[in-house]
Amino acid sequence: MKVNANTKKLLIELATKTRNNAYAPYSRYLVGAALITNDGKIFTGCNCENASYGLTNCAERSAVFRAVAEGYRHIDAIAIVGGPLGGEMEFASPCGACRQVLAEFTDKEKDMEVIVARSVENYKDYQLSELLPESFKL
Ligand code: THU
Repeated sequence: MKVNANTKKLLIELATKTRNNAYAPYSRYLVGAALITNDGKIFTGCNCENASYGLTNCAERSAVFRAVAEGYRHIDAIAIVGGPLGGEMEFASPCGACRQVLAEFTDKEKDMEVIVARSVENYKDYQLSELLPESFKL
């Protein structure tokens, strides 16, 4: 679903704030995400790494799992901000695993807006169906 400019700005701001909590001592690449559900609830997440590298959880999935744990399963939009520790923000496009997890919680008729941001003024906007066409669903 397309969300308005104020909502986008708010999601980018919250993702940026949450990025400060990223636990990424191995990659030193910090990511924050903020999503909004169809009933206007917002959930945030950050990446959380582990000494056993493969156990790392991305920011997007962290936000999704928080929403699901609170009983929310319909996501309209998600903003993502990322970049190396102490460096410039980049357009941190969601990884394939996160795209598939996001697709699970997309309303079929509405799609999901994915905002990949370097700042509130500088972002790219996609629909999830563009980023993951023909996603697997049961
Ligand atoms: N990361 C995310 O949080 N989201 C993505 O979509 C891609 C990558 C994290 C995982 C890892 O902690 C760090 O970025 C470098 O890969």
